[in-house]
Amino acid sequence: MKSRTGASTVLVATLLTLGAKKEEPKAEPELAEHVFKNIQVFKGTDASELIPAMNFIAGSLGVQCEHCHVTTEKGPWPLEKDDKPAKQAARKMILMVREINDKNFDGTNKVTCASCHNGHQEPRPIPPFPTPGEGSEKKETGTTPPSPAQLLDAYETALGGRAALVGLKSRVLKGKLEADGKTFGLEVVQASDRISIRASGPEGEFGVGYDGSEGWRLGTGGVFSMREGIELSKLRRDADLNGDLKISETFPEMKYGGRAMIGSTNAIVLRLDTKKKIKERLFFDPESHLLLRRLVLTETLLGPLPEQTDFSDYRTVGGLKIPFRVEERDVRGTEVQTFDDVKTNVAVDAKTFAKPEVATPKPK
Ligand code: HEC
Ligand code: HEC
Repeated sequence: MKSRTGASTVLVATLLTLGAKKEEPKAEPELAEHVFKNIQVFKGTDASELIPAMNFIAGSLGVQCEHCHVTTEKGPWPLEKDDKPAKQAARKMILMVREINDKNFDGTNKVTCASCHNGHQEPRPIPPFPTPGEGSEKKETGTTPPSPAQLLDAYETALGGRAALVGLKSRVLKGKLEADGKTFGLEVVQASDRISIRASGPEGEFGVGYDGSEGWRLGTGGVFSMREGIELSKLRRDADLNGDLKISETFPEMKYGGRAMIGSTNAIVLRLDTKKKIKERLFFDPESHLLLRRLVLTETLLGPLPEQTDFSDYRTVGGLKIPFRVEERDVRGTEVQTFDDVKTNVAVDAKTFAKPEVATPKPK
């Protein structure tokens, strides 16, 4: 059932509130230089593109935001400051990469920060020794590959069938979220196209939600409206309880993607492409036909940013298979959600999805 529970967005939320200005979203896209204070190389780009690009940079170098940005004990970080040499170096690197791509690859992001840095602050100039057994994708012989439609049909059936999926109007998942060695209480509530994900722990409460028209996040810095852009469109899709039925609509370009090992399972890969910013790869269990992994690739200003969700411990609730363990990985780290109480088609108060009235920040 995908990362409908998408909690990585929860922790990301805390982070994002550091840099974002408290503003209502506008219908017109806003330029980065109008929203942020010290934009030089990303002038002219949509403001909603900036944070994904920052995540891409941080992930490519294997560093945190504070590697380049000045931090403070209290209050929002002055992200506009250029005091750290790494930030200045990063600007030069962005221009360098742009030039490489413009001159050699028609301006497409073929060379990215990750091409050289590959998770390291300093790229290795030395070629690696080959690792035995690695890098060879399993080739299939003889068998006719399944069509994307067959894979999706089998998935739908495995989940409980179309009728049960169409009949799913709401669900409430309770459990815990583990990240960074910390454990939080977790509650995910969904009704048709609305979602609320709230996590709470000693450091306070945070979460994200979408009430059918407005997206919000709640973090240590308060409550914020999401601006139109990648983050909101992903949340909208996670919110949609019938999303699994709409895969072929959302991704008109579906292709069988061969096999890939996930643990000891030789999973079947379905490649979902669009002309839009978000692509997906779905990995199905060849026996149960359930989804084992979903890889989302978001095209940022600098290259594709991966987010991977692994689903396991499927159990049947209300005639539908629901994963009780969801592990989310992105360039910042891993979060594990485990549920112990899942209910479907229960009455849900519409207020659950509304942007929280008051922030509940708790100082550390
Ligand atoms: C490797 C260095 C590097 C890392 C790591 C990094 N940034 Fe940046 N950041 C920059 C640079 C360079 C700019 C300026 C971009 C420009 O000039 O257009 C910037 C600008 C910003 C701005 C705009 C600030 C303003 O008001 O001008 C925000 C917000 C921001 N970064 C957030 C983040 C967040 C959040 C992270 C962690 C996920 C992060 N950055 C990680 C280099 C970095
Ligand atoms: C063509 C290869 C290449 C690409 C692409 C590349 N870098 Fe670098 N980068 C380097 C090399 C080489 C160094 C110098 C390392 C050293 O001094 O040993 C470096 C150094 C840096 C440093 C300074 C080291 C530090 O952390 O203080 C930063 C920051 C950096 N790169 C950021 C980026 C960012 C952001 C991108 C993508 C926009 C990028 N690089 C893309 C090769 C590359």
